[in-house]
Amino acid sequence: MSLPQIREEHLKEIVKSDKYPDPFADIAVDVGIGLTSKPKMLNPKYFYDENGSRLFDEITRLPEYYPTRTETKILARESERLIAKYKPMAIFELGSGSATKTNMILKPMKKMGLLKEIGLLDFNEEFLIESVANFQNRYPGVRIRSVVGDFSKELLFDSFNHSPTLYLILGSTIGNMSFRESIKFLKRVAEKMHPSDYFLLGTDLIKDEKILYDAYNDSQGVTAEFNKNILKVINGKLGADFNLEYFAHEAIYNSSDNRIEMYLISNSDQKVFIKDLNLEIEIERGEKICTELSRKYDRQKVEAMLETAGMEIIEWMTDEDSLYALSLSKLI
Ligand code: SAH
Ligand code: TRP
Repeated sequence: MSLPQIREEHLKEIVKSDKYPDPFADIAVDVGIGLTSKPKMLNPKYFYDENGSRLFDEITRLPEYYPTRTETKILARESERLIAKYKPMAIFELGSGSATKTNMILKPMKKMGLLKEIGLLDFNEEFLIESVANFQNRYPGVRIRSVVGDFSKELLFDSFNHSPTLYLILGSTIGNMSFRESIKFLKRVAEKMHPSDYFLLGTDLIKDEKILYDAYNDSQGVTAEFNKNILKVINGKLGADFNLEYFAHEAIYNSSDNRIEMYLISNSDQKVFIKDLNLEIEIERGEKICTELSRKYDRQKVEAMLETAGMEIIEWMTDEDSLYALSLSKLI
């Protein structure tokens, strides 16, 4: 694909307000704080530069990574029924990424003559440009708004006038937030919603540990490469000199907290210099940098989380093996 062409043609579609500055604007502060804390940690939103986003797309197609295909399967079974029943006229997707699954919702909306407006928000601009181009071709005449933004902060876009609007966040992306962040996030979404709007949430479920472990330790090493990409991003953006070979990928399942924890482990005593921060970081052999959490849920946990944010579940949809769940909620 020739990205520059698409970029020029569609950049006008991308909303870049002063309120949403460059999504990497805080990287210096975040990395400085994260790598001088004990234990060391990095904010997972920095995985998603162009290379990271492509690697994530590759993850979604791995044989061990069941969440994407299971979510797709549930959507294939349920989306027509949901659209016919709840009749949304607009959708707004947060963390839309390659927006592949979104089509499964848009298609029946178009077929039933409902689709008026599409909104997409993501950290990664390249993905937004592609999605906008793709949707403009498939859904001519439909207004598309895309926002390069950060959903861990205030949601600065305006709500649509079309109601019901369906807000959604798929891919168990909510599971990558801490519990507190996820509640804050849901409250911000709830603030955007009118009483007639809906919220569709994808959540990965608690299950056999081996299945969970394998999903984050794939045999082809794509997840490892994705994990290490965060160091590449820091090298590129802050002039750091991380050597990726001095780190190993580790993902473990913490069964008491029901979450996958992802780390980069240092395989030697080393010093890393971050030029833009004028900061030298010492890392010991065996020391771990936490890069990501992926929380796993059951219905009760999802219900409790939504309720705290003022929403209630009206549809709970899982696959036959109860690997993954989609829930549709509305304001209480
Ligand atoms: N919805 C897609 C992609 C999930 S990956 C799917 O289900 O396959 C998570 C997506 O959220 C990525 O596209 C990433 O760029 C985006 N993202 C991660 N953190 C974000 C943040 N803080 N603000 C906005 N987008 C974010
Ligand atoms: N939301 C996805 C998940 O928790 C994100 C993800 C999948 C991910 N694989 C990853 C994040 C590997 C970091 C590393 O499943």
